[in-house]
Amino acid sequence: MDLTGKTALITGASRGIGAETARAFAQAGAKVALVARSADATAELAGEIGQSAVAIPCDVTRYWEVEKAVQTCVAAHGGLDILVNNAGAIEPIGRMAEIDPDRWGDVIDINLKGVFNGMRAALPMMLNAGGGTILTIGSGAAHRPTEAWSAYCASKAGAFMLTRMLDLEYRAAGIRALSLSPGTVATQMQRDIKASGINEISRLDWSAHIPPDWPARALVWMCGTDADDYLGDEVSLRDDDLRARIGLG
Ligand SMILES: NC(=O)c1ccc[n+]([C@@H]2O[C@H](COP(=O)([O-])OP(=O)(O)OC[C@H]3O[C@@H](n4cnc5c(N)ncnc54)[C@H](OP(=O)(O)O)[C@@H]3O)[C@@H](O)[C@H]2O)c1
Repeated sequence: MDLTGKTALITGASRGIGAETARAFAQAGAKVALVARSADATAELAGEIGQSAVAIPCDVTRYWEVEKAVQTCVAAHGGLDILVNNAGAIEPIGRMAEIDPDRWGDVIDINLKGVFNGMRAALPMMLNAGGGTILTIGSGAAHRPTEAWSAYCASKAGAFMLTRMLDLEYRAAGIRALSLSPGTVATQMQRDIKASGINEISRLDWSAHIPPDWPARALVWMCGTDADDYLGDEVSLRDDDLRARIGLG
């Protein structure tokens, strides 16, 4: 995929899948905007990538910050063609009778409201330009209850519905909306899951996780027409045929 001339805004770009996605998009020729709360980490990554990257401190739970991040991206790079809604959180992990309700709500704010905030802020710009691609990181947890992950499962199920809604309302206007379910990926999130010791995912051997550059490369592929079969739907990296099609493994 050649993304020369395109601009991508990636949320949660301070580490893990988001940081690898920023590297992969820049390598494919895109200009990138790196969004996360950890300003030092995104600034360091922008320095590593070079002129084509700008770091924008932003908390995706606050709409006005996301709107400002889109404006800053457009001012720096001249437009916005691709949004990657990647920022996410899994903690607090715990069963429903024990979990702190406010901390439960924080996960919804990041994983569900944060995704809506990204879509809502990017849409006017993209619709004005005649189209754009909005990719959201989903999860198998959207479709399958997983012990002690009620906030995460509910938020990912909701985020998948937002991708379907976006496709329903805006495909005809040129918006490509897709979700990526990466399987388990070797990042800080899996370290936190392992530390919890609850449920079968926490007991997986570390070697079971795919490296973060796999979802990053899948996201680059999803920007092309080859992925149009999946519009309004989910690309799952647990699918061996699809992995082969993308050139992973
Ligand atoms: N790892 C897996 O096995 C796996 C599997 C399926 C799906 N996913 C999904 O993939 C995405 C990336 O996860 P990861 O594994 O790379 O996790 P990670 O290493 O924990 O990274 C999470 C990223 O989200 C950012 N973030 C969290 N809250 C934010 C907020 N309020 N505003 C802005 N940024 C925020 C963090 O940056 P700051 O803290 O600097 O803000 C960080 O860059 C998530 O949506 C996750 O649910 C992961």
